[in-house]
Amino acid sequence: MSDPKTQSPDSAGSKAAAPSPAALKRILGGMSVDRFLADVWHREPLFIKGAVDPARLAIEPDALLALGADDRVESRLVQKRGERWSLGHGPVPTPPRARRDWTLLVQGANLHHPAADALLDDFRCLPHARLDDVMISYAVEGGGVGPHFDSYDVFLIQARGTRRWRISAQKDLSLVPDLPLKILSNFEYEQEFICEPGDLLYLPPRYAHDGVALDECMTWSVGFRAPALGELALAFLERCAEHSADMVNEERYADPGLKRPRHPAAVPEGMVEAVETELRKLRFDRARIADFLAECLSEPKPGVVFDAPAKPLGFAKFLQAISRNGIRLSPASLMLHTPREVSINGESFDATESEGRWLRQFADSRHASADECAMLGENLAECLYDWYRAGWLLIGQAAA
Ligand code: SIN
Ligand code: CO
Repeated sequence: MSDPKTQSPDSAGSKAAAPSPAALKRILGGMSVDRFLADVWHREPLFIKGAVDPARLAIEPDALLALGADDRVESRLVQKRGERWSLGHGPVPTPPRARRDWTLLVQGANLHHPAADALLDDFRCLPHARLDDVMISYAVEGGGVGPHFDSYDVFLIQARGTRRWRISAQKDLSLVPDLPLKILSNFEYEQEFICEPGDLLYLPPRYAHDGVALDECMTWSVGFRAPALGELALAFLERCAEHSADMVNEERYADPGLKRPRHPAAVPEGMVEAVETELRKLRFDRARIADFLAECLSEPKPGVVFDAPAKPLGFAKFLQAISRNGIRLSPASLMLHTPREVSINGESFDATESEGRWLRQFADSRHASADECAMLGENLAECLYDWYRAGWLLIGQAAA
């Protein structure tokens, strides 16, 4: 076996950088991902019969209900009594299954169940900064969250039982006031789909929809992130403020040629000009914005906990293990890159050019083969070791 510490990452075995779109093409019933993006994405709904093999969507209701009762998992319970809706935030005790009209929604199921993580992987040829999570709902007959719209694209995949989706391109998105959840006031459906296990319904952002369980059913939603631009811009400005010492000088205002003003209470024009000049020095360049976005969007969501190994291998054993088995990012890890930086879970890594190349490929595919791991330089190997001890990456290319 080659000494992992002595070789440059440049010599790592070459591999296609971008994850293959083949898995998503299969889900799209054979439509190429490029065609889907050009003709359907953000534009119109798409229903595909038998898009996913139901065997891949194998999470038992009891396992999901257990996640709903776990305080480390984000979940909601929606119930309807006549025209009254109620919303409870998890952990939630499961209502009797014999009762009608309730649904449990478990957010981030991909963090807790390998089958959900594997499904999300099929979407990884799309920008990782846009992928959110797999939410799984369990509903008894009559259960649903009411007619509503989401602000993001969503792929609704039926895993169990039957759900009737009614959808509408209506422009009236006004909501019933004073309800604990967002329910459209005037929902008038235009199309109806009966989804059975394996069927998929894609909906663009702000498309009105209402899914009602016709029997005990489970629906998996692959959702996309659509961060509020104003919030990102504000967060960027806050970052600028934190780093303002690097960006603007410490010079103080001076007015050597001061003339006695006619209105001493007026703000001096020279002072306005001096501050304007200073503000213009703030660099809002694209590279800085991109680096900020990589750090900010790779931050773990609140409540995400990484499972650090209870008995981590020593460094030498770790190198041996990864050069035999490869590595993969743990399901909760978010890794993004820009032309200048690579960020993981909100932290950017100061990489050399060749390390950066290796890490970008790793971020795109979220795994690295044994061969690729056998060729690491010392700095990179140490960094991966830290990530392993933090629970950010796992040994082995695929979940066991
Ligand atoms: C559900 O699974 O019940 C709701 C999913 C959605 O409408 O986005
Ligand atoms: Co929805």
